[in-house]
Amino acid sequence: PGFMVEAVAEIDSTNTELMRRARAGRTDPVLLVAERQTAGRGRLGRPWQSAQQPEAQSSLTFSLGMPLAPADWSGLSLAVGVSVAESLDPTGAHKVGLKWPNDIWVNDSKLVGILIETAMPQTAQPDAARYLVIGIGINIGPREADGMRTPPAWLRQWQPEASAPEVLQSVAEPLVRSVLAFEAHGFAPFAERFAARDVLRGREVTLSDGTAGLCEGVAWGGELQVRTDAGLQLISSDEVSVRPR
Ligand code: BTN
Repeated sequence: PGFMVEAVAEIDSTNTELMRRARAGRTDPVLLVAERQTAGRGRLGRPWQSAQQPEAQSSLTFSLGMPLAPADWSGLSLAVGVSVAESLDPTGAHKVGLKWPNDIWVNDSKLVGILIETAMPQTAQPDAARYLVIGIGINIGPREADGMRTPPAWLRQWQPEASAPEVLQSVAEPLVRSVLAFEAHGFAPFAERFAARDVLRGREVTLSDGTAGLCEGVAWGGELQVRTDAGLQLISSDEVSVRPR
């Protein structure tokens, strides 16, 4: 709905580019898709490899940029994950699951990575719209595992004909609609849908500070609930990473 789609062959990172534009005052809604990134970025400052792809177009990398002014930002990354997982696997037949906060996993292998960033508004009003940049990397064909903390999964494992343009077609529109639904209603419309695909719930997990506990799923505000020796912890920080044990 009313989005410019811009496709480039190569760029450092689609997220970096849209953040640069936002800082220069360009805050129109846009979807920027790149065939290759030379400096793709992941969460927690990690790189997102796209070099050494065995074949061209073996991943889909794009970012959606738009101004957004939700009442509460918490749970946005989860809502984005729900939307993409449902587009890739509408019925759940392929066990496309969500690993808090917003990785998409199949059988403990990562299929999709999501990196969300926001650029601050120029004004000081607390409720002013921020420019939101949602970066998504989807493995279409096999890719190298080096440097990744979990082995990769890829779409052609069960959709042999999958191609980057087609996947973009099926993911983009629902994603825009989901982000607008989140702006209007927050995380509530997504909570049960997240729970249906939650791959950590019921599993023993380790937090990035080494704490171990039992994951009890996601709270209504989008926080991860982990029962540790110190009691039930609600984890909301994007700075925490969680792995199953
Ligand atoms: C992660 O799993 O840590 C997040 C990976 C996000 C990768 C995508 S690819 C398109 C966009 N541009 C980037 O530089 N990163 C995101």
